[in-house]
Amino acid sequence: MELEQAKKRVDELNKDLHHYNYAYYMEDKSLISDYAFDLLLKELIDLESQFPNLKRPDSPTQRVGGTINKSFKTVQHSTRMLSLGNTYSEDDLLDFDARVAKGLEGQSYEYFCELKFDGVAISLQYENDVLVRAVTRGDGTKGDDITDNAKTIRTIPLKIKANLNTLEVRGEVFMPKNVFEQLNKEREEAGEDLYANARNTASGSLKMMDSAQVAKRKLDCYLYMLLADGHNSHEEAIHHLEKWGFNVSPTYQKCSNIQEVLRYIHHWSEKRHQLPVETDGIVIKVNSLDQQELLGFTAKTPKWAISYKYKSESACTKLNAVTYQVGRTGAITPVAELAPVLLAGTTVKRASLHNSNEIERLNLHQGDFVFVEKGGEIIPKVTGVDLSKRAANSLPIAYITECPACQTSLVRKEGEASHYCPNTQQCPPQIKGRIAHFIHRNALDIDSLGERTISLLYEKGWLKKPSDLYKLTKEQLLELEGFKDLSATNLLNGINNSKNAPFEAVLFGLGIRYVGKTVAEKLIEHFRTIDALMSANFEELVGVQEIGDRIAESVIAYFLEEENRIEIEKLKSAGLQFVTTANEKASNILAGKTFVVSGVFNNYSRDALKAAIKTNGGKVVSSISKKLDFLIAGDKMGPSKKEKAEKLEVRIISEEDFESLLLK
Ligand code: IVH
Repeated sequence: MELEQAKKRVDELNKDLHHYNYAYYMEDKSLISDYAFDLLLKELIDLESQFPNLKRPDSPTQRVGGTINKSFKTVQHSTRMLSLGNTYSEDDLLDFDARVAKGLEGQSYEYFCELKFDGVAISLQYENDVLVRAVTRGDGTKGDDITDNAKTIRTIPLKIKANLNTLEVRGEVFMPKNVFEQLNKEREEAGEDLYANARNTASGSLKMMDSAQVAKRKLDCYLYMLLADGHNSHEEAIHHLEKWGFNVSPTYQKCSNIQEVLRYIHHWSEKRHQLPVETDGIVIKVNSLDQQELLGFTAKTPKWAISYKYKSESACTKLNAVTYQVGRTGAITPVAELAPVLLAGTTVKRASLHNSNEIERLNLHQGDFVFVEKGGEIIPKVTGVDLSKRAANSLPIAYITECPACQTSLVRKEGEASHYCPNTQQCPPQIKGRIAHFIHRNALDIDSLGERTISLLYEKGWLKKPSDLYKLTKEQLLELEGFKDLSATNLLNGINNSKNAPFEAVLFGLGIRYVGKTVAEKLIEHFRTIDALMSANFEELVGVQEIGDRIAESVIAYFLEEENRIEIEKLKSAGLQFVTTANEKASNILAGKTFVVSGVFNNYSRDALKAAIKTNGGKVVSSISKKLDFLIAGDKMGPSKKEKAEKLEVRIISEEDFESLLLK
């Protein structure tokens, strides 16, 4: 492609992708399919690598990251990033209000209330409306330049519409609750340690060296402060931010007196749990900027603002028993079975006790009354014991020494917190857990097979290993309680379809410890086939980016087990994918063919179709001629085009026909 032409296309792609992103992340509107979006993005990435001069600082390709920072540069803040005074009591708030009233010497004033988002403070600098620098709070005076990482956060605009030479905004980067939960679920499935809370995870993510990894963390950001001229109150500043395309939480409220502020606090005390972000309180700011200036600062905090922190809710309830769960890796998790108690909007009956160290730390006794809190407001956790309620003769909880499911003696490896049941091949919850993992959405995705059916099939002796799935017959299924012709057919179809699942999904599904989805992808990108992976030695494994000693050892140990190698052979014979086809798709399959794309399509935007043609070696032209190979016709295509194509005997195909061309 010529530079001139490339520039035009890069302009177009920049504009369209920004538009789709804005609609998706700020307006919750999906204008095009994920697939189509990815194709356009890929086209732009390719063009930018071909013509590096065309890469702009605000290009949507920055969202996917890819830069590696060995360390972050320290930068000075234009004005200090301050913290806020805290209070937990309404009386303190009334005192704050009295101080404000006194400081303003009889002037009338308003407050502006916001929720206090529990994340990491960030400062964003824009020059000529383009994001040029993002800096962490650091010690308040200087912070780390994390621009590449911040650019991967989709709600941080790379370009705004403020028409200002320079501009700084400040806000909070956070990991949405559902993203945090999902991340931990994936870590649990991969046998990795769980992250403690969303705030620390957001903070750790922002400081990762590889921005492509940050992009995967799906961080979000709310802005709540504008450093620029042109507004007289905080309310005006917030409205400017909204107008210019910044992500502002819609939970703010202007209050005309402290009583209204208290009502705001009560309003959100429970409701905040339904928000996508963790909040730990509210922030109260004097609205007028002149009045803020008049009130001034103490050494560390403004006198015109304060934060009210909600008490983290805790409840006291009876410990009925400690039970033990066996995970698919054999890890034992002790669980506190509690007398049901209401806590932050839900009834809590169970809480994880993590491991035996935790039980020792709490010095837990049988029949104790325990305090439970919601750790990060999501997962309940036992925080202590009410010793005043402990019976004099109660015995300490003795940790089990045998597996509760198969009675094998438990082991605990040097340096690990958890006990394990070593009976990997025979222990029922481990067997069932491995199958549940294999069929999981992120793995082979056989969604018509639930945990109950796995148990039934296991009890019949028909399902002990994933490869047994591919031997199941309809007759067997019809013997199971609750199965009818249709449900049996559906399950068999689901099992059959799983043979098309990509190698990445299969490798993840095997359940090798520490091989989560991302690790599976990395390994496959490098080794491409299971045979290559199986014969890789330690040095080769740790030579792959992001594969450390622990993962390498685990992969080697897995393939050393004869049972595992036999199982892989069986899965191969069943027809599962053990070789990757990735990157081969962008092929030359359409080389020499020309296409006209016309009309509206169901699965693609027109742009995405064109991109798919090009990435597979075809050529897109605009007018129909005798030399044209294909006209891809969507709905609402003009009748004259159709006529012309028919007259010139050009092949008219549907989008589905086009897809099958790519499969050839
Ligand atoms: S205003 C000088 N507004 O809380 C005032 N801060 O303890 C600066 N925070 O460092 C902050 N939500 O990281 C403000 N709506 C909000 C906030 C908020 C969370 C954080 C911020 C700040 C800390 C202050």
